[in-house]
Amino acid sequence: MTKADVLLGLQWGDEGKGKVVDVLTPNYDAVARFQGGPNAGHTLEFDGRKVVLRSIPSGIFRNCVNYIGNGVVLDPVLFRQEAEELEKQGTDLRKILRISKKAHLIMPTHRHLDAANELAKGKEKIGTTGKGIGPTYTDKISRNGLRVGDLLHDFDERYEAAKNRHIAMLKAAGYDNDPLDKEAEWLDAVNYLKTYQIIDSEYELNSLLDSDKKILCEGAQGTMLDVDFGSYPFVTSSNTIAAGACTGLGLSPHRIGDVYGIFKAYCTRVGSGPFPTELFDATGDEIGQKGHEFGAVTGRKRRCGWIDLVALRYAVMINGANKLIMMKADVLDGFDTIKACVAYKVDGVETDRFPFDASIEKIEPVYVEMPGWRKPVAECRSAADFPREFTDYMKFVEEKLGAKICIVSVGPDREQTIVL
Ligand code: GDP
Ligand code: IMO
Ligand code: MG
Repeated sequence: MTKADVLLGLQWGDEGKGKVVDVLTPNYDAVARFQGGPNAGHTLEFDGRKVVLRSIPSGIFRNCVNYIGNGVVLDPVLFRQEAEELEKQGTDLRKILRISKKAHLIMPTHRHLDAANELAKGKEKIGTTGKGIGPTYTDKISRNGLRVGDLLHDFDERYEAAKNRHIAMLKAAGYDNDPLDKEAEWLDAVNYLKTYQIIDSEYELNSLLDSDKKILCEGAQGTMLDVDFGSYPFVTSSNTIAAGACTGLGLSPHRIGDVYGIFKAYCTRVGSGPFPTELFDATGDEIGQKGHEFGAVTGRKRRCGWIDLVALRYAVMINGANKLIMMKADVLDGFDTIKACVAYKVDGVETDRFPFDASIEKIEPVYVEMPGWRKPVAECRSAADFPREFTDYMKFVEEKLGAKICIVSVGPDREQTIVL
């Protein structure tokens, strides 16, 4: 039986999922996004082009069908911006993109509710991307959501009811901004969205597998931002883990094959919340500068630190990741020594587990320090070129995580990818 493979982030997002999905897509017949929304920013570089995708799957530049699954939340305005830009550059999107009827719509009022929630939290704010992600998933779970399929019938009544409920909530919260400032543009974009193939994606995806076609499921965000297993409450509002591919596409666990777990050779996080290996010194700044660690969507500076093998081991376990992908190895070129966190000290007691509430526990990372490499990994084109110190670093990580690294990325371009 042909199975669908899953590719997802093992850290706090921005691991380089977009790049690798684009690299792997030639091996697949279809790519399907299973959760998240325009909070994602997936960067692809090829043929001198740089593209940031938010809602559209990263298989779009290869000859295959791309699906926006039911687990995704879609903002018609941002979708339109993204789609029109791609169309301008010659991608015939309507032909190769299909959208699930069951994906939920982000309304203009959801964005304001997101802002109001953050304001109410004050210093404790999550530092969301401000795209209305949390409120949209909240409406889905509380059975008040508006879905893409609703565009095809009874849309006006459903929209008015949801909108009025949101306005009442914003009023009760004492929120001042005009929640309908962008309504006209949104309604316009809704009509644009209707011109796409809106389908029962669970049927199509299962029948693709029935006819031995290969599917790659693309995750957004990362495991440590998962609503159940991430550093709650500093997380996103969806299941970013492998199980999310089942619920977000309508696939049985029996139908999941390989799980590609992707991580940076170091670690970053954007927004608030615990980050045990965060560096507040010149080394952290250097990693940020060399890695151009600024958000693809919000432009915010990403917090940087050493690799966290405690959090990564947890992520490998939760996802059953059997194939590892190490990204941005080139960013660590030139460091005299590299550190890897192998355990935490919590209240003086050493543990190899990620704590229940990492935001209140005082976590002190326990590091192993290794020699850096002199020869730049950025210049390597095959594993045979790797400096010994880098190979040792990879082996160390593989051993700690209990899975093999199958791809090493040494630069942002499609070509700067070494398959082992
Ligand atoms: P995603 O959200 O997981 O798809 O990742 P992002 O696109 O948000 O962030 C990854 C960033 O790193 C992007 O700017 C990529 O172009 C870049 N990138 C990806 N792989 C590499 C790599 O191996 N080396 C370097 N230097 N940059 C990379
Ligand atoms: P990709 O797919 C990194 C973070 C936000 C915030 C938290 C909640 O590009 O890896 P949300 O808007 O989802 O309610 O914000 O999650 N966050 C991301 N961080 N990469 C992402 O996506 C993210 N999507 C959300 O910064 O801390
Ligand atoms: Mg990103």
